[in-house]
Amino acid sequence: MARWTNLLLQAALLITSAKSLCGDDADCQHAAATKFAPVLRLDKETLSQDRCLPGHPATVYYERKAGNQDVICESNLTKLEAGEVPLFYHYKECGSDVVVIDYFIWYSHQRECLKIEAGGLMNEAYGEHKADWETVAVQIQYDEVKRVGFHQHSGAYSKSPDQVTFVDSTHPVAYVGLDSHGSYHDEGGTGNCLYFQDYRRFDDKSLKLEGWKFLINAKNKSQDLPEWFDGSRDFYDGFPNPSNKGNACRTPSCSGVDSWIELTGVCTGTSCGCRKSDYCNDIEFGSVSGKKPCDDSLINDITNKGKDLGSRVIGGLRDSAQVSGATSLHLGFAVILVHLGRVL
Ligand SMILES: *[C@@H]1O[C@H](CO)[C@@H](O)[C@H](O)[C@H]1NC(C)=O
Ligand SMILES: *[C@@H]1O[C@H](CO)[C@@H](O)[C@H](O)[C@H]1NC(C)=O
Repeated sequence: MARWTNLLLQAALLITSAKSLCGDDADCQHAAATKFAPVLRLDKETLSQDRCLPGHPATVYYERKAGNQDVICESNLTKLEAGEVPLFYHYKECGSDVVVIDYFIWYSHQRECLKIEAGGLMNEAYGEHKADWETVAVQIQYDEVKRVGFHQHSGAYSKSPDQVTFVDSTHPVAYVGLDSHGSYHDEGGTGNCLYFQDYRRFDDKSLKLEGWKFLINAKNKSQDLPEWFDGSRDFYDGFPNPSNKGNACRTPSCSGVDSWIELTGVCTGTSCGCRKSDYCNDIEFGSVSGKKPCDDSLINDITNKGKDLGSRVIGGLRDSAQVSGATSLHLGFAVILVHLGRVL
């Protein structure tokens, strides 16, 4: 008898869950995106250190179109509270009743995480650049969050829900790095340029963006999309809008695999993201696989602890969580300079 009840319950669950898939129903997709939208918690010094809030890309579009090439750094917190700053989303079904929703956040400027003023050609602001899209991803199955993806500049990692904070049980919390706006599952950081050390101190509870307040479906072709949405990437300092990202289901659950480079205590390129991932890079973000971290060997554990310790001592190193593109080429130089600076 109990067995039959169980089977009936399971059947009922399957029917309910099938209904939670939206197909092409845009209103249904919007409802799902609203239900699972993340909240971004910003560092306490975002405003006092002029680190720029998330913004509306339209602001940049119209300023650039009018010929303004200055740095645009949003600082009006009221706009976040009033729901005037959008999050863009992609809804994607992956099979096995799994849905992946990618959320995109616009920042019109990123400040440097390290400034070296050695004079002449040695002057460099590491990590500084105009324009950025940051991403948080959610995997949903049977109307429940099963995995959350946190993206940084050149890496990413995924956490199972028991490792993530939620608001009202469905909205995952992403802690945003002070300098580089990468998203992380936890607070902390020691305030330097290393991958996991960007400050994330949510002490000022007003500094947040509640993603469900203003959502735009980046693929909604039925929408009478405004001029800025399809504007040339020239108006966005070279960044295209997020309407054409790859297949969210097939994205690796992390990027930046632990490697021997960890031994040096500094991640470079894409060597870092996977270090904190509950699912390694051979597991697709849309898969139903259980937890499977990349490497929890003793040696990795020791080097990781060494790394966090080292970064506290050598404040000021940078790595690729915070710097993208050509600036990375300068890394070796900067590190050597910083070391010298500390030694001398
Ligand atoms: C900040 O944004 C709010 C809401 O849009 C607006 O009413 C206010 O004038 C803005 N403040 C400044 C200083 O621009
Ligand atoms: C798509 O656009 C239409 C028309 O603007 C709007 O009514 C609808 O809510 C949008 N759907 C989504 C999922 O954003």
